[in-house]
Amino acid sequence: QGVTVVEHPLVQHKLTLMRQKDRSTKGFRQLLNEIGMLLLYEVTRDLPLEAVEIETPVTRMMAPQLVGKKLVLAPILRAGVGFLDGMLDLVPSARVAHVGLYRDPETLSAVEYYFKAPSDLEDRLVLVLDPMLATANSAVAAVDRLKERGARDLRIVCLLAAPEGIAHFTSVHPEVPIWTASIDERLNEHGYIVPGLGDAGDRMYG
Ligand code: PRP
Repeated sequence: QGVTVVEHPLVQHKLTLMRQKDRSTKGFRQLLNEIGMLLLYEVTRDLPLEAVEIETPVTRMMAPQLVGKKLVLAPILRAGVGFLDGMLDLVPSARVAHVGLYRDPETLSAVEYYFKAPSDLEDRLVLVLDPMLATANSAVAAVDRLKERGARDLRIVCLLAAPEGIAHFTSVHPEVPIWTASIDERLNEHGYIVPGLGDAGDRMYG
């Protein structure tokens, strides 16, 4: 429960590379995919296993395998898509829910423009992906919408979180845990995370 900061040195090193303003679009994208894999590794650490009987070339044995339905990756467009390829490399059979939200630059509220999710969210772990948890209006709206469609077991995966965003998100969805590579200092008057890395969507897609 609560917030987990992934302190793994590879994650922290890659995040530093991503924060640098001269990092190319190509480098930024590649790093986000790489960090995505590492974050996914951490966020799936407690997935349940069951013992099944298998046959190796040498003998029979009981061996662990994942139980339950395939998990769902739910990227918030656009920036959340930056996590997708890396994560799908690790869990190739995951389902994907696309959640299109943009943040109104004046009010900072999240406006939905697209939503398409698998129909059977009830019994699946749903990972909401968004590099930036700033005001958390986007994450709150995405989780609202996914819950409305039946999701009950949700987790947030982000790269950077602002303390203000964490406080807001946990006040609305206290049972939904958050994984992040960093909790930054604060939000500025435009709702940007400081020190942050700028606008992740723009840095990836222009
Ligand atoms: C940005 C960012 C997050 C959201 C975070 O998206 O990628 O999705 O804002 O802010 P919040 O926590 O205050 O809601 P943006 O609206 O710029 O869309 P984009 O990803 O398409 O660039």
